Amino acid sequence: MTGCRGVLAKETIPLSATISTARRGFHATRVASSGQTIQFNLADVGEGITECEVLKWHVKEGDRIEEFQPIAELQSDKANVEVTSRYTGKITKIHYAVGDLAKVHTPLVDILLDASESAAPAAAAAAPSPSSSSSSSSQSSPSSSSSSSSGHSGPVLTTPAVRRIAKENSIDLSKVAGTGRDGRVLKEDVLAYLEGSPLAHQAPPQFALPTAAGAVPPLPPSVTTTTTTEAGGLAHVVARKAVVGADREVEIRGLQRAMVKTMTAANQIPHFGYSDEIVVDQMVALRDELKPIAEARGVKLSYMPFILKAISLALKSYPVLNSSVNADVSKIIYKASHNLGVAMDTPQGLIVPNIKDVQVLTIFEIAQELNRLQRLGKEGRLGKEDLTGGTFTLSNIGVIGGTYAKPVLMPPEVTIGALGKIQKLPRFDERGNVVPTHIMIASWSADHRVIDGATMANFSNLWKNYLENPKAMLMDMQ
Ligand code: COA
Repeated sequence: MTGCRGVLAKETIPLSATISTARRGFHATRVASSGQTIQFNLADVGEGITECEVLKWHVKEGDRIEEFQPIAELQSDKANVEVTSRYTGKITKIHYAVGDLAKVHTPLVDILLDASESAAPAAAAAAPSPSSSSSSSSQSSPSSSSSSSSGHSGPVLTTPAVRRIAKENSIDLSKVAGTGRDGRVLKEDVLAYLEGSPLAHQAPPQFALPTAAGAVPPLPPSVTTTTTTEAGGLAHVVARKAVVGADREVEIRGLQRAMVKTMTAANQIPHFGYSDEIVVDQMVALRDELKPIAEARGVKLSYMPFILKAISLALKSYPVLNSSVNADVSKIIYKASHNLGVAMDTPQGLIVPNIKDVQVLTIFEIAQELNRLQRLGKEGRLGKEDLTGGTFTLSNIGVIGGTYAKPVLMPPEVTIGALGKIQKLPRFDERGNVVPTHIMIASWSADHRVIDGATMANFSNLWKNYLENPKAMLMDMQ
């Protein structure tokens, strides 16, 4: 808890500030000369507070002030503070109006000390200020004047932020029941008042928009409510709607159960990732050229057969990527067949059938196999033969969307790739001109226990070269 403390601009003036909630006082330690006009500042309040709102002046300019007489009631975000004088004299200047934010280190009032005034030294330190009993003032003591809750007529204990909310919503704070300490009105109290208020449910004043033609109508009360932002302002939030139905438990079964098992096992393996951007202009053009021919033979030709064939060709140079590791990680088994798994989004869930021996298949044959697997997958009729024996997996998530992925291995395989969506993007050609280019991002993950990054990068570069110059595949196909 922190209190506001007034000090003289040039000299320290006896002055006390009482925190009504904590009932602490602060007293300066020097005596001021009589007949002198003094000016005192609002001292550093601490806790990062830089200003206090002036709630009420107990004096006006020209008023005489007695020792211990309350001068003003201030409010920081942390405490309600009453500033009292310990000198007798005349108020010659009041520096702030009610509602102003008095800045720390700036003057609150100027006082012309009585010529007869022999200012008594104040208590040496912050002893509790007996403000209510020792003052000769007729002003209420801080506790009695500040303890306010619903229906009280005295000043309401609250913070400037809450006052601001109340002001913005035209709420009379004296009507709000304060649930904080000593009846302090909290933000929650104002919000509860707002919610409970019939006015609030119709259209809170701050949201009452002009009804002129073209004006935006206020949001219906069932859709929004108000809340305070951290800065103390008000924000619209969508009102919580009635929940229909109940939470439900669903057994993890079938394909999902297999996924739990496989992915949990995969998580035991240290993976590394590698990504690159592939220019697929030529592949796109070639696919477009060959698509009608395949169609005439009853086969749908997508990009995947080209991509899978390029993988198989590159694997011939980097066979370790088409290997598996035995259970105790003592052996690498290089697989003779390129059984390329294709992650498939089916009505039953994710499944990964594989196309067997891609190393001996043509692009057309790969397309035929993929068509068959897709059809069976759609019908939920993929069998054990198609779902087992994979040696390397590719996930074309780009069919659904997205650019980058972080695929997770299918143990005991050691490599998996994910393809992003093919996009037409601006790129520089060799002459420095910006040209629209078909780009596909490939993201690889590999078992870092047996695969190193250089091998992965070399494989990816070779594969990329096949896709960027598909005719090069002809050179290496059997
Ligand atoms: N970017 C842009 N377009 C793409 C694309 C990509 N990466 N991949 C495919 N396409 C196009 C195809 O060419 C096709 O267009 P077309 O009709 O003009 O030929 C269309 O998208 C649909 O392709 P699709 O029939 O799905 O065939 P495919 O051979 O490209 O993909 C599967 C087959 C099985 C891989 C795909 O259907 C699939 O299920 N992908 C999801 C994989 C997944 O869920 N992965 C997550 C694993 S955690």
